Amino acid sequence: MAAVVAAAAAAAARARILQVSSKVNCTWYPASSFSSVSSVKLFIDGKFVESKSDRWIDIHNPATNEVIGRVPQATKAEMDAAIASCKRAFPAWAETSVLSRQQVLLRYQQLIKDNLKEIARLITLEQGKTLADAEGDVFRGLQVVEHACSVTSLMLGETMPSITKDMDLYSYRLPLGVCAGIAPFNFPAMIPLWMFPMAMVCGNTFLMKPSERVPGATMLLAKLLQDSGAPDGTLNIIHGQHDAVNFICDHPDIKAISFVGSNQAGEYIFERGSRHGKRVQANMGAKNHGVVMPDANKENTLNQLVGAAFGAAGQRCMALSTAILVGEAKKWLPELVERAKKLRVNAGDQPGADLGPLITPQAKERVCNLIDSGTKEGASILLDGRKIKVKGYENGNFVGPTIISDVKPNMTCYKEEIFGPVLVVLETETLDEAIKIVNGNPYGNGTAIFTTNGAAARKYSHLVDVGQVGVNVPIPVPLPMFSFTGSRSSFRGDTNFYGKQVPMS
Ligand SMILES: *[C@@H]1O[C@H](CO)[C@@H](O)[C@H](O)[C@H]1NC(C)=O
Ligand SMILES: *[C@@H]1O[C@H](CO)[C@@H](O)[C@H](O)[C@H]1NC(C)=O
Repeated sequence: MAAVVAAAAAAAARARILQVSSKVNCTWYPASSFSSVSSVKLFIDGKFVESKSDRWIDIHNPATNEVIGRVPQATKAEMDAAIASCKRAFPAWAETSVLSRQQVLLRYQQLIKDNLKEIARLITLEQGKTLADAEGDVFRGLQVVEHACSVTSLMLGETMPSITKDMDLYSYRLPLGVCAGIAPFNFPAMIPLWMFPMAMVCGNTFLMKPSERVPGATMLLAKLLQDSGAPDGTLNIIHGQHDAVNFICDHPDIKAISFVGSNQAGEYIFERGSRHGKRVQANMGAKNHGVVMPDANKENTLNQLVGAAFGAAGQRCMALSTAILVGEAKKWLPELVERAKKLRVNAGDQPGADLGPLITPQAKERVCNLIDSGTKEGASILLDGRKIKVKGYENGNFVGPTIISDVKPNMTCYKEEIFGPVLVVLETETLDEAIKIVNGNPYGNGTAIFTTNGAAARKYSHLVDVGQVGVNVPIPVPLPMFSFTGSRSSFRGDTNFYGKQVPMS
């Protein structure tokens, strides 16, 4: 009996996959024409439904600021329906064999690969990053889905026979129940994919709230997950802002929350969610330092610095936004400026673009104000991207690569996370001084040292108090079999994202 049921289920799932390859076009957006504004749906109990909300938020193309769609702020009734669906689906999903859940994820990773370009297109349209960066965004998320397929080893428990004379001990890893995720705008595919695949493969059901600025990728990812055979209700998606966040923090049926985003929001969600007894993991802001030793390979180092500081227009928490040039390395500044000047700023879907626009006009204004503060507080602007004009995209939120030197740790442009294509440069005489600066900064997300000296590399990696450290690797984001970590103000919680700990079981 059981075998027959399983075969029928597998057949149903296969039929769905065939459907996908012929029809990927999103039902929540017209595929190619954005001339008429279209509404993003909610995903509730396996259906893409139009919200009844009377509060909607416009979605803009950051390269033009044209309105390309709108997203609802889900009503209380809709959010309740989404949670009820997650809760209803949980017992059967938790009882579904690990092997069957793994099969869903195995089909899912294939469908993501098959639709990678379409997901990337949606990211570039709504978020602004270049198509190459958008494909990287999907790819890094895909790696977590692939990692989730190893659930059969990740969920192993432990045993100890004869722990006393007549007693054996076993531990199991069990799903928690309904989990929720709140994602930021900067990685529309990768960060949601950090969240629901790991939780779901462990047998949890999931309520996702993507960023209201970039919902498209998440909606397509939900469709692909459904086509992979995830049962109705195992993933639900709501949209909104503060009310949706509070709803998630407070709702008694939600057992755990994953959050990535700003410090202000992260601290708030951590406090409010924890107060309601939830397990919360919050990855937050960053200020990542690259320490350049004079013995570094100059060519590689300058290229890596430019890529890591200005790639994705600096809108990533792992951007290498601060360089500390040690000793003679300060002589490389003019060459650094020359390389940064050569980067092509353009709409993300234009061939050859190295960096695209910032997400909103407000983000651009904030970044420009931080650059202004540098001038006022005595720093020097070696390369100024504030006045850049991009032909054909005069209304976009563009800021060109900017380099600020003579920066001191008490300046605003050093203290704040800029989140734009701005590299802040400090100088020190010794490695020890550089380490002191890095450890004195409130954030501890990532850092890198550029050197050919093994002793310097070892000293640095042992003495800095930062989540991830790169040696001649500018953006040291670990692959998913390792956890994404962070220190100090960059992380709140007890379990990190992905890695071996399977946080949500
Ligand atoms: C930073 O500190 C220096 C020396 O203590 C001081 O002269 C300067 O005004 C300070 N700058 C800011 C922006 O606080
Ligand atoms: C560090 O940066 C990543 C990648 O951009 C970001 O998503 C994450 O929230 C940050 N991690 C921590 C621990 O702060």
